[in-house]
This record gives sequence, structure tokens and C-alpha cells, in this order.
Amino acid sequence: MTGLRPARTIGAVVRARLSDTTFAPFPVPTPRMQPSVRSGEAVHAAATPHQLAAVDAVVARLATLPGALLPILHAIQAELGFVPPESIDRIANGLNLSRAEVHGVITFYHDFRQAPPGRTVLKLCRAEACQAMGCERLEQRLRSVHGVAMGETTADGALTLEAVYCLGNCALSPSALVDGQLLGRVSEAHLDALVQNARMKGGSR
Ligand code: FES
Repeated sequence: MTGLRPARTIGAVVRARLSDTTFAPFPVPTPRMQPSVRSGEAVHAAATPHQLAAVDAVVARLATLPGALLPILHAIQAELGFVPPESIDRIANGLNLSRAEVHGVITFYHDFRQAPPGRTVLKLCRAEACQAMGCERLEQRLRSVHGVAMGETTADGALTLEAVYCLGNCALSPSALVDGQLLGRVSEAHLDALVQNARMKGGSR
């Protein structure tokens, strides 16, 4: 997914970013990798009334912030684990933006998910230091042994694998983030145990 983005979308993103005073500088733009579901797994169903109510509450609470779009998207994802596609209209109405502007920001940042993640989210660092210490070997093991490729969720919904580009833990690379917990010197044995634990977790996220 490395195609050129429409100029209007990029302009909208830049305008939203420039008006945002609450967030750190732009992350390094990276190709967006959707947490696509594997074959056999249900495609994301429509948002539930509970999820839509949560979106509305977040918009009502944060709409008056300067550069409110990114805080709203972060808050929705923190609460629901993803940004439901149905929330685009509600956010656009609340902020007096176009749907395209909201959609453009969501799709620009690969951190925003548009489908629910697995019960465990594993972010594997793919930046230089971790590459030098074998992150590609770890990714290959996840793909070949555990059946989950970057940007995917296992068919049983246990684990979502996402890429991240430097966790500030280069001295202990290869590094990963598991449900927000930072791990260093990650080995293939660590990954095997991690996937096994994720599969033993019951319920939904
Ligand atoms: S390059 Fe992976 S933590 Fe910095």
C-alpha cells in the first residue's frame, strides 16, 4: 500500500496536524498495515449501540480541544481498541469537518485500527537496531509457525501482530510491545510462549 495519496487528503492531514498542539511530532510515515483478518475469520460487524455511544461521549468530551481530531481518535481507540468506521460521520459532524478529512487522518496513521484487534496485541519493532538483531527472523517465525503475518490477526482472534518503528529500547533489541508492556531481547522462545499465552486467554477483547 505504497501508492500516492490524493493531495487533498495529505493537505487535510497536514492542516489537522498543524492545529494540534497536544501531540509529539509526526511519526515517521510508514506504509499503513491494516490488521486484516485471516481467511475464515468474521469480517468486522457493524458497531454496536454501546460502541457508538462511547464514540459520541468521547466526541462530546473532547470536541472543544484545539486540534481535537487526534485526541478524539486516540481516546476512541483506547476505549474500544479500534476506531469503528461508523464513527467517521459522528466525528466529522462534531468537529465540523468533512468525512474525507477524518478518514484521511485515520488512514494516514498506521496506529489507528479500523477493525477490532485480537485479545492480545503484539507490536514488533522493525526499525534499524531491531533489524540488525533479528526482528525479521522473529516475524518469519510468527508467520511460519504461528500463522500470523504482519498486520494480521490469528484466525482464532487471539493475537494481532503489528509493526512499530523504534520503541526507544534499541539497546535491548529486538524489542516488542505486548499490550503496552515493553519487552527487550525478544527471542523465538519468548514469542512461542507469548502466542501460547494469548491463545489460552479466553473471552473477547
Ligand atoms: S530500533 Fe527497535 S527499539 Fe529502537
